[in-house]
Amino acid sequence: MGNPSGDPAYALARSHEEYERLGRQALFLHGSTERLLRDAGLRPGMRVLDVGSGAGDVAFLAAGIVGPQGSVVGVDIDGGALRVARGRAEALGLANVHFVEGDLDTAEAGTGFDAAVGRLVLMYRADPAAALRAVAARVRSGGIVAFQELDLDPAVTVRSMPGTSLWNDTGTLVIEAFRRAGMQVRMGRRLFGAYTAAGLPEPTMCDEALVGGGPGFGGYAWLAGVARGLAPLMPSLGLDAPSDLDTLADRLRDDAVTNGTVVWTPSFIGAHATKP
Ligand SMILES: C[S@@+](CC[C@H](N)C(=O)[O-])C[C@H]1O[C@@H](n2cnc3c(N)ncnc32)[C@H](O)[C@@H]1O
Repeated sequence: MGNPSGDPAYALARSHEEYERLGRQALFLHGSTERLLRDAGLRPGMRVLDVGSGAGDVAFLAAGIVGPQGSVVGVDIDGGALRVARGRAEALGLANVHFVEGDLDTAEAGTGFDAAVGRLVLMYRADPAAALRAVAARVRSGGIVAFQELDLDPAVTVRSMPGTSLWNDTGTLVIEAFRRAGMQVRMGRRLFGAYTAAGLPEPTMCDEALVGGGPGFGGYAWLAGVARGLAPLMPSLGLDAPSDLDTLADRLRDDAVTNGTVVWTPSFIGAHATKP
């Protein structure tokens, strides 16, 4: 079921388990998101808007860059996620990070920001360019708009070498679930057109996949976590959820280690531009 904005229903669970998964995912993605924000020009003292904050991780990353002289406002439609985010901000002693509940298009989160950022949020919107336009309207002229989104294409993004069937099968299942749930599975590559359609300049873009092997790679737990987050929805999409989710990460790891395999996550594509 969609919502009044025409967006498809959010594909992932809204639960404490999911908020914890977001926190683990954030550790996995920390380096690539930080590189994007720094390349985009985030610097100390800036006022930043983070849209689709979830449990707050991108807001906290931005707060670390802008420092105590700067500030961050996070927006999310999910009040439960924001309760977690506020608790974490307090525990981290971040007095300059605040969260506002609401749709990123319309929430009373303010305007005139030096930067607006978001990670893995436009893929859930029926009209990502319209969402980007609404976000950009909150940024001052000369300010930054930076987003990082997944690009999910089974033909090129499910990769392992030499091939392991469990990694590839799980990756393909996850992509198919997102696709059938109506998410923007190619949001990463669509960022370019979304920026220009939103009236922003052609963005500078980068493509990062996390690649690894051996017992210590974080990708097995990441992929198993996404599969778990989507599993409750899979039957209604005509898909069979993985049989034993509790052991999936271990099985992905064992499979890769046994076969001496290197595995790739899908692409996380970053885009940034300066508002004219
Ligand atoms: C996959 S989570 C990513 C959270 C966070 N950006 C991160 O990377 O950890 C996507 C978040 O976007 C939020 N979201 C989706 N559509 C939204 C909308 N229209 N307005 C505000 N938040 C939205 C969801 O509630 C969810 O918390």
